[in-house]
Amino acid sequence: MEGVVAISGGASGIGLACAQAVLATDGAVAVADRDAAALARAAMLLEGPRTTTRLLDVTHEDAVLAWMEGLEGLSGCVTCAGISAHTPTLEVAAAQFRQILDVNVTGSFLVAQAAARRMAAGGKGGAIVLIASVSGLSGMQDRVAYSASKAAVINLAAAMAVDLARYGIRVNAVCPGPVETPMVARLHDAATRAAWTARIPMRRYATAEGVAQAVLFLLDPVRSGDITGQAIPVDGGFSTAGLMP
Ligand SMILES: NC(=O)c1ccc[n+]([C@@H]2O[C@H](COP(=O)([O-])OP(=O)(O)OC[C@H]3O[C@@H](n4cnc5c(N)ncnc54)[C@H](O)[C@@H]3O)[C@@H](O)[C@H]2O)c1
Repeated sequence: MEGVVAISGGASGIGLACAQAVLATDGAVAVADRDAAALARAAMLLEGPRTTTRLLDVTHEDAVLAWMEGLEGLSGCVTCAGISAHTPTLEVAAAQFRQILDVNVTGSFLVAQAAARRMAAGGKGGAIVLIASVSGLSGMQDRVAYSASKAAVINLAAAMAVDLARYGIRVNAVCPGPVETPMVARLHDAATRAAWTARIPMRRYATAEGVAQAVLFLLDPVRSGDITGQAIPVDGGFSTAGLMP
């Protein structure tokens, strides 16, 4: 990878794995996250001349703009900052619904838009990868806000891809199934895990490192230069599985 890849939510899970995957090439990373403790741990793990870290909340437009404006040679952006909650539809409070959409949709948009402005000004194009979810491809029990937010992220990729193609900027979404990360460790009990693996042809959760390799592919103009506007499931076959004995 040439240039700098900005990664929001890069202090943990999929975002952290994306940063490690970029650094394993020749690329540089600019990692942002709102969790100061996680960011400090990530800074130690990623330490080196090709890494910068920044404490910020992706829903704060000015902070996102200031972060991006300070980055030189931006070639890629990955929006990983996201939150989830398991709540049945009848019990979802408006505040929770709004908060999940604010972080997952508005936050992803603000980061992707600020990155696109930098890339367009730089004149060399670039690639943006939005982390959506299989929850945005079909309905998931007790995840009404999360599913709605991830469906919006998938369309965000499609719409931004159309707008930004004229600047040589590609925009794609990755839709992971369940991935072993701190978020899943918090939300998935044994029964949830059993329910998922029964529906996944590969019978296992993905790893954050595996998802990061798919992201790396979409960032790379040589490998995926003709791919834009797509939503690519990384889910062990979950989203296309039919009858499974
Ligand atoms: N783990 C899974 O099974 C799974 C599946 C599909 C999609 N995803 C998506 O992948 C992305 C990463 O999830 P993960 O599993 O690695 O979770 P994670 O909780 O390990 O990491 C998410 C990171 O985002 C940061 N973050 C949250 N809100 C933020 C905000 N407002 N501003 C800045 N940073 C913020 C958190 O501090 C955290 O470091 C999320 O968008 C999630 O919805 C995860």
